[in-house]
Amino acid sequence: MTRIRVGLLGLGVVGGAAARLIDAQRHRWRRQYGLDISWRRALVRDPAKPRPVDAAGRLTVDPAEIVEAGDIDVVVEAMGGVEPAGTYVLRALRAGKRVVTANKALLAERWEQLQEAAAEAGQRLGIEGAVAAAVPCLAAFEQVLAAAQVERIDAVLNGTCNFILHRMERTRASLAEVLKEAQALGYAEMDPTDDISGRDAARKGTVLSLLAWGRRPADVQCRGIEDVTPADVAAARDAGGHLRLVVSLEAPAGGEPRLRVGPQVLPAGHPLAGLEGPDNGLCIQARPLGRLFLSGPGAGGDATACAVVGDVIRGTLARPAGSKLVVICDEREATAAAPGPGHRAADDPLAAADRL
Ligand code: NAP
Ligand code: HSE
Repeated sequence: MTRIRVGLLGLGVVGGAAARLIDAQRHRWRRQYGLDISWRRALVRDPAKPRPVDAAGRLTVDPAEIVEAGDIDVVVEAMGGVEPAGTYVLRALRAGKRVVTANKALLAERWEQLQEAAAEAGQRLGIEGAVAAAVPCLAAFEQVLAAAQVERIDAVLNGTCNFILHRMERTRASLAEVLKEAQALGYAEMDPTDDISGRDAARKGTVLSLLAWGRRPADVQCRGIEDVTPADVAAARDAGGHLRLVVSLEAPAGGEPRLRVGPQVLPAGHPLAGLEGPDNGLCIQARPLGRLFLSGPGAGGDATACAVVGDVIRGTLARPAGSKLVVICDEREATAAAPGPGHRAADDPLAAADRL
């Protein structure tokens, strides 16, 4: 049995759903993969807030109890923002932890620094949850698309905006009303202007450009949906189309990548036009394979938690046997209770397994 002790930076929509998923699926993963995954501790701002999981004795306001703790193997960053999240991720990598993050703002702003720090630490960042949540689009760049030449990407990458535009199409409600619903469902960013302004989608587009071409877009134009009215949505529908917030990326031969974000009326037959609720989708044009279309849940705690915890599992299964994070422990160790904050690895009977 391989033991993976997760430390969560954040126990909100994504961190809370990841903790709930780990608690619910732990026994299945033990049987299916021989992995014993538990979450040991979570960093929060306000330990008095109600939580979606039983977090008694596992909350801390001290980041060192996650990023430098001897009893944490993988750090899941789900707090958002560039700082202090960026500093905590770097500290975790330097302390030899594997890191998984769903934070596209951090990735878009600090990509080169984070990738360099991960490479120095001999780690790979898990980032699948940062773009299009549960749609396994970033993995595609490491697999089938690694061998292809990506020419163009058209995508819907913001679940909040898709939810709003789709709901406005059906109900004729105002943008402000539907935005409140999207916030209540956990789709929107802490500051929802990042969603509505197109900035969140542009950050995800930047991550895609870095994966597809190894370069940031040199030319970025970004418009959001803030001025869209129920009449605009109805006019698009009456014309047989659907209004969607579309991200378009292309890299002309020998040229720099270009990124455009803005509302577009898509014809009914377009694969992105049919996306409902918070779904996201990507049409990727690449040579010689032609067009790849990927779609699925693009926001929300459960969808993102699957991507994030999937990275925890995938990163572990992909490691060669005997590598630092693979810990052999017996049945008794795997079911032992988690220690509370302040617990030191040296006191931990389970830590003996680390030295095997
Ligand atoms: P959230 O619900 O606001 O949760 C943020 C969590 O981080 C909270 O538990 C908060 O503590 C904690 N936190 C924030 N700043 C902190 C600080 N300085 N010190 C200590 N704790 C801090 O946010 P979320 O929706 O889960 O999003 C988290 C990340 O995932 C963001 O990067 C977001 O862009 C990304 N993401 C979100 C979704 C989604 O659908 N929501 C999907 C994909 C990616 P308190 O609870 O005490 O306030
Ligand atoms: N606020 C983001 C969205 C969360 O609505 O797409 C998923 O990244």
